[in-house]
Amino acid sequence: MGKNESIINELIEIISAKGELKAYVHSFGCQLNVSDGEKIKGVLKKIGYSFTDAAEDADLIILNTCAVRENAEDRVFGIVGSMKHLKDEKPDLIIGISGCMTAQEHIVERIKKSYPQVDIVLGTSAINSLPKLLLDCLNGRSFAADIAEYADFSEGQEQVRESTYKASVPIMFGCNNFCTYCIVPYVRGRERSRKADDIISEVKQLVSDGYKEIMLLGQNVNSYGNDLECGISFPQLLRRLNEIDGDFIIRFMSSHPKDATKELLDAIIECEKVAKHLHLPVQSGSDEILSAMNRRYTAEKYLETVEYLRAYDKDFSFTTDIIVGFPNESAEDFEKTLELIKKVKYDNIYSFIYSKRTGTKAAEIDDRISDDEKSARMRKLLEIQREITTESYKRFIGKTLRVLVDGESRKKQGYLTGKSNEFIIVEFEGESSLIGSFVDVEITDAMNWAVTGKLLK
Ligand code: SAH
Ligand code: SF4
Ligand code: F3S
Repeated sequence: MGKNESIINELIEIISAKGELKAYVHSFGCQLNVSDGEKIKGVLKKIGYSFTDAAEDADLIILNTCAVRENAEDRVFGIVGSMKHLKDEKPDLIIGISGCMTAQEHIVERIKKSYPQVDIVLGTSAINSLPKLLLDCLNGRSFAADIAEYADFSEGQEQVRESTYKASVPIMFGCNNFCTYCIVPYVRGRERSRKADDIISEVKQLVSDGYKEIMLLGQNVNSYGNDLECGISFPQLLRRLNEIDGDFIIRFMSSHPKDATKELLDAIIECEKVAKHLHLPVQSGSDEILSAMNRRYTAEKYLETVEYLRAYDKDFSFTTDIIVGFPNESAEDFEKTLELIKKVKYDNIYSFIYSKRTGTKAAEIDDRISDDEKSARMRKLLEIQREITTESYKRFIGKTLRVLVDGESRKKQGYLTGKSNEFIIVEFEGESSLIGSFVDVEITDAMNWAVTGKLLK
C-alpha cells in the first residue's frame, strides 16, 4: 500500500467515526483554479466528506484563492477575517487556504502571523498533500502547510464537477511569458503540457458521459505541446479532439496573440466542433504599452489575426481582456486602445484597472498616473464598449443561433438563458427540462448584454 493510500484509509476511518462531515470549497479567479477546486473536492469526496454551499454549516472550509489582482487578495483576507467567529463557535472547524495566493511567501507569512484561525496552507501543485495535511489537523495539529513546488502534476485525479453538461479540461499548466504586470508565472511555475492521449481519453469519457461543452484550459493554450517530446501542437490537438464522435462543442482559453498562428486560425475555421469565437486578450492598443508589457506583438499584427478570421466570416466573434492604467499609460496610449476596440468590434471585453503585483517587473516602474484618471478611463472604456456591443449584437437579428441552455433566466420568469456557439448570451421562453441541451433560437432582439429570441421546435 502506498503512503498516501494508507493516509487516505486512516482518514476514511476517522471521518466515518465522526458521523457526517461537511466541506465548503470555494474557488476564486480563473477557470483553471475552478478546475483545481473540483480536484480538491475529488480528494475530499474520496475520504468521506459531503459538501455544503454554506460556510457556516461546514466542518472544513477551503478557500482556493487567486492572486492576479490586489482586490482578489483583499477579498480573501476579508473573508478569512470574518471566519474567525465560526472557529470560535466551532473549535473543531478546519480552515484551509489553497491556490495562487499561497505561492507568495509574503502572503503565507501574513496568514501565519495575523490569521491564526487558518489551519492548512496548500500550494498550487500540492493537491496530493491534502490528505496528509488534513490528517495532521484532525490529529490535533494547529497548523500544517505544503507550499513546495512540484514539477509534475498527476493524471487521473478524481474530480467533483460542478456541471453535468459543461466540463473544463486543463491541457497545460503554468506560463513562460512573463508579461511584466502579471503574477501568474511566479505562482504557477513554467509551462507543463499534459500528454495528448490523456487529454483525448478524458474528453472521450466526458462526451460519452453526456457532456456537451468541453472547455480546454491553459494560461496560453497556443504554446501547448512545446515542452512535449512528441511535438504535437495545439492546432493538431484541436483537430484530433474534433474527430471524437458525438454532439458537443469545443472551446478553449486563453490564447496569446503572439502565438495565434495561421495553423491555429485554420484549425478553428475547419473543425466543425470548435466554437466560432476567439477570446484573444489584447491588453492595450498602444505599441509602446504592449512593448512595456512584454507582450511581443503590435496592434497591427493583432488586427491581422482579427482580419484573417473575419475574411472567413465577417461576423466572427471576438472577446478580449484589457488593462487600463498600466504604469505611465498616457492619454494617447489609452486613445489607441479605444481606437482598437472600435476597429475590432468585440462582442464583449473584460477590463481591469492595473494592479501592482509585488515581484513583477512593472511593479518597479514609478507610475505618474493618478487613480482618479485611471477610473475615469475605465468608465469611458466601458461606455464605448456598451455601444459597440449593442450595435454588434444587432447582426444576429433574424438569424438562428444554436444555444447550449444553461438555466432559468434570473431577469424574466419563464425564460431560459444559454450561450450560443459565438459565446453570446441568449434568452428565450422555454421549459427548464431543456437545461443542458442544444436548442435553436431565432433571434428577434438585441440588448447590450444579451440577445433574445424564439425557440424553434
Ligand atoms: N493567461 C491569460 C490571462 C491571465 S490573467 C492571458 O495571457 O491572456 C487574466 C487577465 O487578468 C489578463 O488577461 C489581464 O488582462 C488581467 N491581469 C493580469 N495581471 C493583471 C494586473 N497586474 N493588473 C490588472 N489586470 C491584470
Ligand atoms: Fe500572465 Fe502573460 Fe502568462 Fe497570461 S501570458 S498568464 S498575462 S504572463
Ligand atoms: Fe488567479 Fe491563479 Fe488563475 S492568479 S487568474 S487563479 S492562475
